[in-house]
Amino acid sequence: MKNGVIISFEGPDGAGKTSVLERIIPLLQAQGLSVLVTREPGGVAIAERIREVILDVHHVNMDYKTELLLYMAARRQHYVEKVLPALENGKIVLIDRFIDSSIAYQGAGRGLDEATITQLNDFATDGRKPDITIYLDIESELGLQRIAQNAEREVNRLDLEKLDMHQRVRQGYLRLAEQEKDRIVTIDASRDLDSVVEEVYQVILQHLA
Ligand code: TYD
Repeated sequence: MKNGVIISFEGPDGAGKTSVLERIIPLLQAQGLSVLVTREPGGVAIAERIREVILDVHHVNMDYKTELLLYMAARRQHYVEKVLPALENGKIVLIDRFIDSSIAYQGAGRGLDEATITQLNDFATDGRKPDITIYLDIESELGLQRIAQNAEREVNRLDLEKLDMHQRVRQGYLRLAEQEKDRIVTIDASRDLDSVVEEVYQVILQHLA
């Protein structure tokens, strides 16, 4: 069994994770690295179905614990079906959102108990954490402004939350980054895309070296 690497991408809505990821992939591939890119919730058929249920804008009455458990169910299926086999093949697995999203959104954002969420994360991934986490940090007002300006982006149920929820999510991320300095690298995502991509690329290369 070869040892693959998990690199997760995290950040509040509007931080630009998806754009940064799209630009990072070819740079890593050009280095001859074998990369798999995927996302949560989703990434495999069963988890994509769960994603539709979670993010449906009509599901306004979804209980917060139900929401948490659905994210966890999607995480488990995605991990077993896609992430684990890729790791066993020695791949570098880039995941758009992973365990820290649950702590930031369902913990800090929704107010659910963070110790319970950590236990559920461990249950879903058999205790596997990312080797490195790129946290794209952005002030909530700016993040929401970017979302509003991006006409192509589908609006999901969590985007519709009020500013204070987004602010709590960001504070949750900042706290996590402080607690896990060895794993989580904070990048200022308020700058232009080129600068952010360059910094992320250097951080990843350094880690892989
Ligand atoms: P997505 O369209 O992927 O948003 P983004 O482009 O911002 O990543 O939608 C995912 C949403 O799900 C996003 O608002 C964050 C939220 N989320 C959680 O609340 N908990 C989680 O565990 C995960 C993985 C995502």
